[in-house]
Amino acid sequence: MLRILFIGCGNISNVWLSSLSSRSDVDICGVVDLNREAAVKKASDFGLKCPVFTDVSLAIETVNPDAAVDNIIPSGRLELAEKCMKAGLHVLSEKPLADSMENAKKIIALSDRYEKQFFVMQNRRYNTGMFSFKNAIDSGRLGEAGYLGAEFFRDPRFGGFRERMDSPLLLDMAIHTFDQARFLLGRDPVSVHCHEYNPDWSWYAGAASAICTFRFEDNIIFHYTGSWCAPGMKTSWDSSWRFIGSSGTCIWKGTGLPEAEAIIQRENNESFNETSRVDIDIVECNPGGHEGCINEMINGLQSGIRPQTDCRDNIKSLAMVFAAIRSSTEKREVFINEILEV
Ligand SMILES: NC(=O)c1ccc[n+]([C@@H]2O[C@H](COP(=O)([O-])OP(=O)(O)OC[C@H]3O[C@@H](n4cnc5c(N)ncnc54)[C@H](O)[C@@H]3O)[C@@H](O)[C@H]2O)c1
Repeated sequence: MLRILFIGCGNISNVWLSSLSSRSDVDICGVVDLNREAAVKKASDFGLKCPVFTDVSLAIETVNPDAAVDNIIPSGRLELAEKCMKAGLHVLSEKPLADSMENAKKIIALSDRYEKQFFVMQNRRYNTGMFSFKNAIDSGRLGEAGYLGAEFFRDPRFGGFRERMDSPLLLDMAIHTFDQARFLLGRDPVSVHCHEYNPDWSWYAGAASAICTFRFEDNIIFHYTGSWCAPGMKTSWDSSWRFIGSSGTCIWKGTGLPEAEAIIQRENNESFNETSRVDIDIVECNPGGHEGCINEMINGLQSGIRPQTDCRDNIKSLAMVFAAIRSSTEKREVFINEILEV
């Protein structure tokens, strides 16, 4: 039985607790929030009989957990990671890994020093559409990878920390899309050109829109365009995608299944290619989303095999975010290694 201390009782905690509280191999042995009422309400909503705390150190001392779930805001992540790992707890954390590259590296160093795992939630990898899209790319049926594009346009009014932070779209949301691009291409990013902007009508203090062109290994282009203040004709939260290979194209609208077409091979050299539909093998991801990622995290703790969202890998997705922000600020191409090697 894995004893979990659950920390941070805001919006996203409902999704984690729905999944964790239904598992027979997990015991939620304590709930923490700086705001006691939030913690009390969350424990009551999920029928948890465990004690409630406002102080993490006291909670650890009292209930002696094996692992912590971190659902707090990004600015507190490093301090919380240090408290937990130093006390011998593994950490299953919400994204982003950290609020800066320096802090992300410190978290990895703490994980090494205390030999405790730190895994990051990247729920948008875990989706039957994504798995099938990746399979279509990996099958080779569409040829050599050349281009991947993602469009993300929505207009949420969250209130709270997102409306006050710098670069809310890139730091709080695009991390998902950038991580999905790394997952789909199975390659690492090399550099980025980015332009962030904030329309006059935006209700965010920081830039809530961005256009980024990444170059990946093997000269593959990943183009991202997104906004969090784009009223109407919304895309899916998972973005709308297009992959172009040397012999075909696959699109995925972020819901349902992807669709693809490939060139029909011809004997004689005709001016225009003809294409035909490609049957895509469906690769199930069940359960998907948070639950799929939580399953992999808990299996990782039980088996010792690090899941795909281990902090050591996830820092590359975070580096894409900070490289894009630096590119936008300094108005130049920024190399991912400049960010990773600081
Ligand atoms: N994966 C996803 O799809 C997804 C979706 C939404 C949010 N998130 C992430 O989840 C995290 C939380 O977001 P949210 O929307 O739930 O935020 P929120 O503001 O609704 O909740 C955060 C909670 O943490 C508490 N808290 C803050 N600092 C604390 C500390 N040091 N100790 C204990 N409690 C503390 C606050 O009192 C609050 O109740 C963020 O990192 C966010 O980026 C991920």
